[in-house]
Amino acid sequence: MSGPPPLNEPLPGLVVGARLRLEMWRGEPDAVEAIRALIDRSRPTLSQFLGWAVEPLDAAAEAAVQADIERRWREGRDAGWVIVEDGAPRGMLGLHRRGGPDELEIGYWLDDAATGRGLVTEACRMAIDVAFGIEGIDVVEIVHDAANLRSGAVPRRLGFSRVAAFTVPPEALLESGIKVRWVVRRGDWLARREPSSVLSTA
Ligand SMILES: CC(C)(COP(=O)(O)OP(=O)(O)OC[C@H]1O[C@@H](n2cnc3c(N)ncnc32)[C@H](O)[C@@H]1OP(=O)(O)O)[C@@H](O)C(=O)NCCC(=O)NCCS
Repeated sequence: MSGPPPLNEPLPGLVVGARLRLEMWRGEPDAVEAIRALIDRSRPTLSQFLGWAVEPLDAAAEAAVQADIERRWREGRDAGWVIVEDGAPRGMLGLHRRGGPDELEIGYWLDDAATGRGLVTEACRMAIDVAFGIEGIDVVEIVHDAANLRSGAVPRRLGFSRVAAFTVPPEALLESGIKVRWVVRRGDWLARREPSSVLSTA
């Protein structure tokens, strides 16, 4: 398999913060149904910049995606967390083993009804604190299409540095095909001297 080696152990299945919980998306029917409902109602927004959201998945494809997320989590290659606020799912955040051996990459999406309140910024803060709690992880990155200004505002808000742009074939409806890469390095993140956003993990 290509890509960096897996982490020594799976990422946490649960990350608890003051306002949010990041809960591993497992294949229980209720959890799958809840995420499907968010994606279906937010599809016009999500499909602008997420290729996988352009067309609904049938049940078999959806089960395959879910199984892949679970497998990659067990292998130490990804976390696919549901962002949970007040017991309700608001979107998802992924922490992915991509790029160099000292890197993890964050991806995210929110239900339309959950935007504009800082939830993804807060969930990213939690994921970054988790990432830099792992020995050997020195860089966290966020990659987004150049036209996706709301996505780009997240790493900017968190103090990431914009380091590169590269071209890829567009997959979603409004993508320009220019990807922008932002990074934050462990030393710079820890130098903020803010208390960890993570209260506990399991
Ligand atoms: C990208 C996406 C997750 C960003 O959502 P968002 O709501 O802008 O991001 P946040 O949850 O961090 O909220 C930030 C907003 O809340 C406001 N806010 C309120 N309280 C806040 C707080 N405590 N902290 C930070 N921001 C806060 C910010 O000012 C900002 O609003 P503004 O854009 O009007 O200035 C969302 O647009 C989305 O799901 N898009 C479709 C999928 C997608 O493109 N995913 C990324 C692919 S790379």
